[in-house]
Amino acid sequence: MLKAHNLVKIYAASGVPVHAVRGLDLEIEAGEFVAIMGPSGSGKSTLIHMLGGLDPRTSGEIWLDGKRVDTLSESGWALLRRKKVGFVFQGFNLVANMTVADNVELPALLAGTSPREARERREQLLDKLSLSDRAEASPGQLSGGEQQRVALARALANRPALLLADEPTGNLDSRNTRDVLRLLGEVHRGGQTIVMVTHDARVAALADRVVSLLDGEIVDDGRIPRRKIAGAGEVIDLR
Ligand SMILES: Nc1ncnc2c1ncn2[C@@H]1O[C@H](COP(=O)(O)OP(=O)(O)OP(=O)(O)O)[C@@H](O)[C@H]1O
Ligand SMILES: [Mg+2]
Repeated sequence: MLKAHNLVKIYAASGVPVHAVRGLDLEIEAGEFVAIMGPSGSGKSTLIHMLGGLDPRTSGEIWLDGKRVDTLSESGWALLRRKKVGFVFQGFNLVANMTVADNVELPALLAGTSPREARERREQLLDKLSLSDRAEASPGQLSGGEQQRVALARALANRPALLLADEPTGNLDSRNTRDVLRLLGEVHRGGQTIVMVTHDARVAALADRVVSLLDGEIVDDGRIPRRKIAGAGEVIDLR
């Protein structure tokens, strides 16, 4: 579904060039849940920003659903994201002068979902993330962990085929992390592809695969073995 080939990012604006991503190859299957791990500064945010078209690559190729996308214009990317990609930023990037409810509904409305359906989806997501009572607040009135959960709800409002998330549990306590993990589990079982930067071993444990970055390169790429036992019309994952 998503493929990067010899992907390079060099930040050159401020004097000394920074090689944030150095010739990276990565292939992600549809429906896979991939955790990206690695120390601070290893290029995790840079990588997923490029994969979501939010930061232009220096060189290399990005393919999404068999189409080359690294050559798209900004507006081309914006359209593609609207249709296919949900993004959770490390810094949340909520719209400050809109309520929580409107922040979550906006992407679905932009993608042409009916107002009623967008509202229902928003109510459902905020409920799952214990945010229903904050729907009319503005982002500035929320705690960091609340803003983080709103950012996740917004990214999922469109039921994107691909969810790209940059540390979606970085600010959460264990109860809220559990809510987020439960929701991500649902999204994963629903067949959506997830690529998620995380420092949290509990989050990584939920993934099918952990890709480790160091200094802009992949130093480890391991699938987490799972045993599947078919139950009453259902597949239960044992880890
Ligand atoms: N806009 C920028 N201009 C110059 N250098 C940058 C820029 N953004 C990131 N970098 C540099 O690129 C490297 C990778 O940064 P990146 O943000 O991708 O790391 P990260 O793995 O996400 O780290 P963290 O875990 O702290 O979020 C770092 O050395 C960083 O200083
Ligand atoms: Mg980062």
